[in-house]
Amino acid sequence: MPNLQRPTLTQYLIEERRRYPQASGALNGLLLDVANACKVIARAVAFGRLVDHESGVAGGTNVQGEVQQALDVLSNQTFIDATQWSGNLAGMVSEEMAQPYAIPPQYARGKYLLVFDPLDGSSNIDVNVSVGSIFSVLRAPAAVVAGQRDVQAEDFLQPGSEQVAAGYAIYGPTTMLVLTVGNGVQGFTLEPGTGEFRLTHRNLQVPPEAQEFAINASNSRFWEAPIKRYVDECLQGSTGPRGKDFNMRWIASMVAEAHRILMRGGVFMYPRDTKDPTKPGRLRLLYEANPMAMIMTQAGASCSTGRAPMLEVVPEQLHQRIGVVFGARLEVQRIESYHNEPVNNQSHTPLFTTRGLFRD
Ligand code: AHG
Ligand code: MN
Ligand code: MN
Repeated sequence: MPNLQRPTLTQYLIEERRRYPQASGALNGLLLDVANACKVIARAVAFGRLVDHESGVAGGTNVQGEVQQALDVLSNQTFIDATQWSGNLAGMVSEEMAQPYAIPPQYARGKYLLVFDPLDGSSNIDVNVSVGSIFSVLRAPAAVVAGQRDVQAEDFLQPGSEQVAAGYAIYGPTTMLVLTVGNGVQGFTLEPGTGEFRLTHRNLQVPPEAQEFAINASNSRFWEAPIKRYVDECLQGSTGPRGKDFNMRWIASMVAEAHRILMRGGVFMYPRDTKDPTKPGRLRLLYEANPMAMIMTQAGASCSTGRAPMLEVVPEQLHQRIGVVFGARLEVQRIESYHNEPVNNQSHTPLFTTRGLFRD
């Protein structure tokens, strides 16, 4: 029997809110609506290909030219339906919508902006790996909240340090919601019988050192020198400069990688590379990198572009891509230091230049 004594998400949020006597409850309301969206998506994901046939929602191509799965479209609509009516939001931005979504006039306008990737890892959903939803909450500008103008793209171009809350849901063997409201990272597990998210993982912390790294090694010939050096050194294991063996993982679903790191440590890299000069990285800043950066930072880990802290990056475009390195604090620090060393010092490991395992 599951332990139903554990606090529910609602209970956790109400207890958190008590720390801010002036709080209106709008953030809690919004987060509970997002959690409801995640429950609906978890159900849809569980039906797998059956949903394709039953929903009638056909996938197309999104703003980034990527194939949209039917579940991408359905998950996007689920987020909108679950949150737009509440009076807590002024607008939304999603991976699946080219432009910001303004709250329709029949609904009250609220003080928050919601930014989300409705289904992360969906390109690999056919193989039944864990996928997830990622979300971030920002404050809307006063003029928008006051109804003087509609929300516009620039309103969302806030550095990650401005996030009020961030989280993800992971749809795996169990569905979990991992959330930060700026006071540590909490993990809630969906109890299938009652449909409640219950607090199962309190104050998640990532160890500062790692034994596991995750990177798509098929891109190695496009990596920049500091990443090649870092991975090379890990691969040399106990006989190399790190003096210990590393394990490697790649699920191709960032939510699943982040979740593994929160559960047992490690470092994740999807660095900037030279594969496609028009794309400075694979992952998107606003709804993939920034929420993970807030979560990692709150869990005592780090998130970087490779060169600088992710949370300090001032976004220039809604769907901007960026190099991402997150996880164990000392590993991220090491990767940043390799990037920030002068170029002519970057190849002092013999294996890296002359017989690197990832030599071009
Ligand atoms: P999305 O499904 O939202 O487009 O994101 C997929 C992302 C991320 O989850 C994962 O880390 C990465 O793409 C996988 O990239 P590769 O195909 O290069 O492995
Ligand atoms: Mn994604
Ligand atoms: Mn997605």
